[in-house]
Amino acid sequence: MRAPFLTAALAAFVAGPALAQDLKPVSAFDAIADPAARSAVLFEEAGKVIEHPRCLNCHPVGDTPMQGDDMHAHQPPVVRGDADMGAPGMMCTTCHGPANVAIVAQAEGLGSIPGNPAWHLAPLSMGWVGKSLGDICTQLKDPARNGGRDLDEIVEHMAHDDLVGWGWDPGKGRTPAPGTQAEFGELIQAWVDTGAHCPQ
Ligand code: HEC
Ligand code: HEC
Repeated sequence: MRAPFLTAALAAFVAGPALAQDLKPVSAFDAIADPAARSAVLFEEAGKVIEHPRCLNCHPVGDTPMQGDDMHAHQPPVVRGDADMGAPGMMCTTCHGPANVAIVAQAEGLGSIPGNPAWHLAPLSMGWVGKSLGDICTQLKDPARNGGRDLDEIVEHMAHDDLVGWGWDPGKGRTPAPGTQAEFGELIQAWVDTGAHCPQ
């Protein structure tokens, strides 16, 4: 009895906390009567996506993207450069094409090179790594830091942007963000409709 328990505990320790795979629908929060409280809880649910490695790896607060569910520094080393697109000779698009590309002669642990026509780093003002969800929420609402967007444009970006959508179709060897982009968009819309309140 004892050994399997220890093995499972050790495996959980090595793997770290499991990534959230489910995303609750907006209706799951209907019972919260106070709109401001409901709003903050809706954002917390959407936070399962926002704080997922598929998003954070491209929204660092420094100069380097990250890779994998463990968010290790990008290999080979690359930097954001002047336009968040890499340095001359090591531009993001040197390796990242318009779509995911499976790696055929498989090196251990390498499943695919992620790709999208718009593949580059989120600007520094949109960095999320290491910030609390409440701080990310406040930053997202701030046009001085979110690319000049109003709340409707934030909803539009979350619900329909193709680079955001990559998070649910990240290519072989990566865990997709929880739920679907449509469900995520509905949570963000409901958050805005209830006053866009941030978790404390
Ligand atoms: C020399 C080739 C090369 C360059 C240049 C490059 N990458 Fe990568 N990148 C890769 C490869 C290969 C992978 C897949 C590795 C893996 O998943 O283990 C990868 C993976 C990633 C991931 C991981 C996605 C995830 O969630 O796991 C991100 C984010 C990323 N690159 C961003 C960038 C950005 C932004 C730039 C430009 C600043 C860039 N890369 C430049 C080769 C490159
Ligand atoms: C390949 C890198 C990359 C990935 C992966 C990525 N983003 Fe971004 N993100 C960007 C870039 C670049 C911008 C700036 C684009 C612009 O302003 O038009 C951005 C901007 C944003 C914005 C605009 C407002 C702001 O303050 O950040 C939101 C919202 C956003 N991303 C959400 C997400 C979510 C949610 C995910 C994961 C499902 C995600 N992103 C994954 C690169 C990425």
